[in-house]
Amino acid sequence: ESSETTKLKKMYGDAAQLFNHILVNTAMGEKALTYLHERGLNDAMIKEFNLGYAPTEELLAAFFKEKGLEQQLLRKSGLFVELQDGSLKERFYNRVLFPIRDPQGKTIAFSGRLLVKDNKQPKYLNSPETKIFNKRKVLFNFDKAKSEIRHQKSALLFEGFMDVLAAYRAGVKNGLASMGTSLTNEQIYLLERVTDHLDICYDGDDPGQHATARALTLLEPLTKMQLGVLPIPERMDPDEYVKKYGEEKFAELAQNAPETVTAFYMRYYEQDRNLANEADQLAYLADVLQQLAKVKAPVERDIYLNQLAKRFGIEKTNLEAQLQTYLRKYT
Ligand code: GTP
Ligand code: MN
Ligand code: MN
Ligand code: MN
Ligand code: MN
Repeated sequence: ESSETTKLKKMYGDAAQLFNHILVNTAMGEKALTYLHERGLNDAMIKEFNLGYAPTEELLAAFFKEKGLEQQLLRKSGLFVELQDGSLKERFYNRVLFPIRDPQGKTIAFSGRLLVKDNKQPKYLNSPETKIFNKRKVLFNFDKAKSEIRHQKSALLFEGFMDVLAAYRAGVKNGLASMGTSLTNEQIYLLERVTDHLDICYDGDDPGQHATARALTLLEPLTKMQLGVLPIPERMDPDEYVKKYGEEKFAELAQNAPETVTAFYMRYYEQDRNLANEADQLAYLADVLQQLAKVKAPVERDIYLNQLAKRFGIEKTNLEAQLQTYLRKYT
């Protein structure tokens, strides 16, 4: 590790401690602490994830200068934005901070959430790319989850920080999140190193469902990875589900509700279609059968062919015949 890398990580570590202290112990942090409590996070969770609050006061630059750090390093840290006159201003301002750590547990970035929604600013603001932070390569909570993932022999992938935290307090500790963008190949590479079983638990809303389909497409070439989907009902996200139904219900859901990739697509392709209409029905069956053509296990295929035959009143041999035409394309 270069000395600059070490210094930057030290800065992030120190900043995380400072922001946590402000959140937990000072009057400046009261509003943010109340916010987190209202979202269901207790003090133990706040400590465990070292959550923080960046206040409206400017203190980080002074804090670092007191430690004798050069201006140049402050610039490179991404913790500040540079004004026209060259002066540095806090990047994170009036936001709850989620420290983002590398696989060794060192803080390398922050994501900051507004306390109150605001149309002029993004809900979440991330550290920019720096020498120590490449967001394509980072999975939130990987450092904490990796041993649990190895132990449980499976990982659970969420959209957001709050979803990982909600699952964690429900005792589901093998959760990770991609950094607000769609899943990347670099993140998949990280996952492959620790598990061969992944369930996707994105938000139940339309964007979450589309993102699930996209992630599955990206994961499809990994023939050794057993994939599944954990659907969240009522278009909620996992955090909202925990809030509404409680931690135990979520733990139960995580235990019992994961579905196969095919089952996911059978629901997914139904969206925006009226299956009482024959044209929609044909398009739906074409989509599902093309998906089924990718399934290697004959028994798994049979389960879904039977379901389709029954549901649509179609001869199974005809479904099989159409499946064969797609099979030729994929093998
Ligand atoms: P909460 O409202 O705090 O519960 O967040 P959420 O996780 O439910 O947010 P949402 O489902 O809207 O988005 C999922 C993830 O995308 C978040 O956890 C963030 O990582 C990311 N994200 C959401 N909004 C923004 C944004 O405005 N800017 C950036 N950079 N990322 C965002
Ligand atoms: Mn979402
Ligand atoms: Mn599974
Ligand atoms: Mn969400
Ligand atoms: Mn949410």
